[in-house]
Amino acid sequence: MASPKQAATSTNKVAAGFTLPVPYRLFFLLIEPIATLAGAYFAFFDQRTYLDLTHATSAPTPIPLGTSIALSQLANLYFAFALSEALVLRATSDLRVWKTVLFCLLVADFGHLYTVSPLGGQIYGSVLEWNAIDWGNIGFVYWGASMRIAFLAVPEKFTGFQVHAPNPKPEFHKNEFQPKPFGDYDVDVKIEACGVCGSDYHTVSGGWGEQKFPLAVGHEIVGTALRVGPKVTLIKPGQRVGVGAQSYSCLDCRQCKNENETYCTQQLDTYGSVWPDTGIVSQGGYSSHVRTHEHWVFPIPDALPSTIAAPMLCAGLTAYSPLVRNGCGPGKKVGIVGLGGIGHLGVLFAKALGAEVWAISRTHAKEADAKKMGADGFLATADKDWNVPHKMTFDIIVNTANSFEGFDLDAYLSLLDVHAKWVSVGLPEDEGIKIRNQTFLANGCFIGSSHLGSRKETLAMLQLAADKGIKTWVEEVPINETNLGDIMRRMQKTDVKYRFCLTNFGDQFGA
Ligand SMILES: NC(=O)c1ccc[n+]([C@@H]2O[C@H](COP(=O)([O-])OP(=O)(O)OC[C@H]3O[C@@H](n4cnc5c(N)ncnc54)[C@H](OP(=O)(O)O)[C@@H]3O)[C@@H](O)[C@H]2O)c1
Ligand SMILES: *[C@@H]1O[C@H](CO)[C@@H](O)[C@H](O)[C@H]1NC(C)=O
Ligand SMILES: *[C@@H]1O[C@H](CO)[C@@H](O)[C@H](O)[C@H]1NC(C)=O
Ligand SMILES: *[C@@H]1O[C@H](CO)[C@@H](O)[C@H](O)[C@H]1NC(C)=O
Ligand SMILES: [Zn+2]
Ligand SMILES: [Zn+2]
Repeated sequence: MASPKQAATSTNKVAAGFTLPVPYRLFFLLIEPIATLAGAYFAFFDQRTYLDLTHATSAPTPIPLGTSIALSQLANLYFAFALSEALVLRATSDLRVWKTVLFCLLVADFGHLYTVSPLGGQIYGSVLEWNAIDWGNIGFVYWGASMRIAFLAVPEKFTGFQVHAPNPKPEFHKNEFQPKPFGDYDVDVKIEACGVCGSDYHTVSGGWGEQKFPLAVGHEIVGTALRVGPKVTLIKPGQRVGVGAQSYSCLDCRQCKNENETYCTQQLDTYGSVWPDTGIVSQGGYSSHVRTHEHWVFPIPDALPSTIAAPMLCAGLTAYSPLVRNGCGPGKKVGIVGLGGIGHLGVLFAKALGAEVWAISRTHAKEADAKKMGADGFLATADKDWNVPHKMTFDIIVNTANSFEGFDLDAYLSLLDVHAKWVSVGLPEDEGIKIRNQTFLANGCFIGSSHLGSRKETLAMLQLAADKGIKTWVEEVPINETNLGDIMRRMQKTDVKYRFCLTNFGDQFGA
């Protein structure tokens, strides 16, 4: 266990708000406002000095009304620049914007230094004088920068479809919510598609017990990276990216350093977790945007359409990780229990990894589909003695069942070869089942579990899917209150072939 102090330091890495580096702050918070407001002061209150400074030798005394009005307007412009500067600063902490502003200012300054050269070399010794002539450029610089910011725009609050209280027939409400503070390693993603995981239903139905409401669920997210924190190196703005079910681990402990970050004791979920030091509850992908540490943001290969890729980020990974960690490959006989979202991706990935794959479902209803997915065999547990011909022949079984109703563990385990493994990833709402010591006796099998997977596994899985043309079987549904309610009622009955994927986010949250 990490000491509380260590824990606090490492969580700060993610939770802390963003601060502009010191040189930028000096320039944009101190030097720039002073110069701009000084321009406004002279142009408004001391027009004679202003004209002298700008070498307007032809201006008579008293200053003609037209010139005075023009100067007052100029003063207004200076105020507008100062205001736009403040707004830019408030709107973005994206260093790229600040670099743009700085670059434009430097170009303007050098151009200006050149244009005042006819006034003679001594002009460069009088900062106020040549600066007075320069001030007019500042507005254009900020105007250019604001254009760039408009392109990168990320709202201060996000919007999502939240559930207000647990209910087996949940209702969704479109609300604004406050994301966690933007951290140095964070990526803001504008969401385009989101898969509907069995866990989303367990969470909002109340089946998993107490949750932090109001809550937007969803953790199979694909979208576009809008802006990235100053220390982000893994993701570029504009890139199509995915976010899965995990959004934080310490990246520092024994597990994190060993590609086992999904088992970090400080791991946080994409929705329903409390961001350290903020009290803000993380919100999922039934939303306009998601803000995530770059370690849990994954570039999506071009070959994978967004609705095909989205369900892979939780369901796909949950199947893929235990398969590769337990040696799924050529010469292995692999079973997948439960042909739902995770199960059907389990069949697709186990096949792509080269194993002999058997789908193990409750009835024959999904047999034809399983064969189309590439399953070499199909077992229906409703058949009498369904397990008998296959006793002690399987090397790995991944169990994705999300209920224990009528679940005969002994029958499933009898399929395993000596010391072979049963890996349960399903997380049923019910009490659980009784396991007897004798259960493991006949074949000395191991039973265990698996949680999501590592960043490395996620990237490898997406690449495998792209290379082999793996296609999630999705039912696309435009996101809105009524459709979400309908989907949840069908999730309750596991009536889905084989994953819902929410689309048309632009209709609800703007393009
Ligand atoms: N470990 C992790 O990291 C992780 C990650 C994500 C989700 N999960 C959990 O994994 C489970 C499955 O998620 P999912 O999204 O794939 O759900 P899903 O799409 O609803 O699929 C679940 C499948 O389980 C089978 N099933 C249901 N009740 C059963 C029973 N009584 N006996 C045997 N099989 C049964 C059904 O397949 P057939 O019709 O073919 O029998 C059903 O299609 C959920 O509990 C979810 O919370 C775990
Ligand atoms: C995870 O931890 C186990 C146990 O320490 C180790 O054997 C394994 O190599 C680690 N990483 C992965 C990717 O399995
Ligand atoms: C299983 O074995 C352990 C260790 O021998 C023993 O303590 C336990 O009572 C056994 N449980 C059952 C249900 O037989
Ligand atoms: C949600 O979208 C469906 C079409 O997919 C439409 O029939 C329904 O009226 C919409 N509901 C709301 C509240 O917009
Ligand atoms: Zn999930
Ligand atoms: Zn860790």
